[in-house]
Amino acid sequence: MEDLFGFVHRRSGTHTVRFQPAGIALRVAAGTLLLDAAREAGLPVAQSCGGFAVCSWCRMQVLEGWENLSPIERPEERLIARQQFAPNERASCQAAVFGDVVVTTTYW
Ligand code: FES
Repeated sequence: MEDLFGFVHRRSGTHTVRFQPAGIALRVAAGTLLLDAAREAGLPVAQSCGGFAVCSWCRMQVLEGWENLSPIERPEERLIARQQFAPNERASCQAAVFGDVVVTTTYW
């Protein structure tokens, strides 16, 4: 299925999320949020808004596979602008995995 932005959602299967610098790799089902993947891998993820794209504490830097994450939607777009995210940063509570990705944070 393809959305308005041309993003092709691969809704089935599993994909690898690699967390750096630890090098931990985890297979997750398509559509898993980066936030949930990190927790499943046993890595801490800061947050205070409950995953509603308000606090920005859950931000992660995407080192590889940016194109394999769900598109940025309006709430995250507003958060990115307000909190001045770097060009490679996503709110992990909003970014779903649809292909292999490599991510990090400033505190791992
Ligand atoms: S948990 Fe608050 S923006 Fe992601």
